Amino acid sequence: MDIHRYERLWLAGALVLIVLFIGTITYGAVVVGVEMVSASGGTIAPDEIPNDDRFSDPRPRVEQVGENEYEAYVIARQFLFQPRQLRVPEGSTVTFYVTSPDVLHGFEVVGTNANMMVIPGQVTKATVEFEEAGSYGVVCNEYCGAGHHTMEGSIEVVPQSEWEGGN
Ligand code: CUA
Repeated sequence: MDIHRYERLWLAGALVLIVLFIGTITYGAVVVGVEMVSASGGTIAPDEIPNDDRFSDPRPRVEQVGENEYEAYVIARQFLFQPRQLRVPEGSTVTFYVTSPDVLHGFEVVGTNANMMVIPGQVTKATVEFEEAGSYGVVCNEYCGAGHHTMEGSIEVVPQSEWEGGN
């Protein structure tokens, strides 16, 4: 069977592209560390959220777990974050656990590397280091209904000199 020269060139080009595409994905996963929404936070049935220790009263909350380490438990729901505002000290490392009882939401901490998809039934986890004091906005970046644009919160990163450990 005779394959035209151009046909062979296109075949070779397509093969090179396939290898390149696999290469970029491998590079992103292995070298850069890009991850899919991780299941490491675990799963939670949406109707069990009120009965779950992490997310039920007097929670959601932020909790100190190490010298400069905190864990924050947040519920994203139509159309607010609970709690709406979290306080942590400057220089702290905060691991967020976020879940939703209703629909898909987003949890983006503006100006940081945290940009999570909040999926009902799953606890999404991400860790952020807050090196500088200030007010960091939290926005929902997945369209979740009529009040989507009003869904916002904030992380108040308090200077060490003003931090007394309270929330
Ligand atoms: Cu929640 Cu958009």
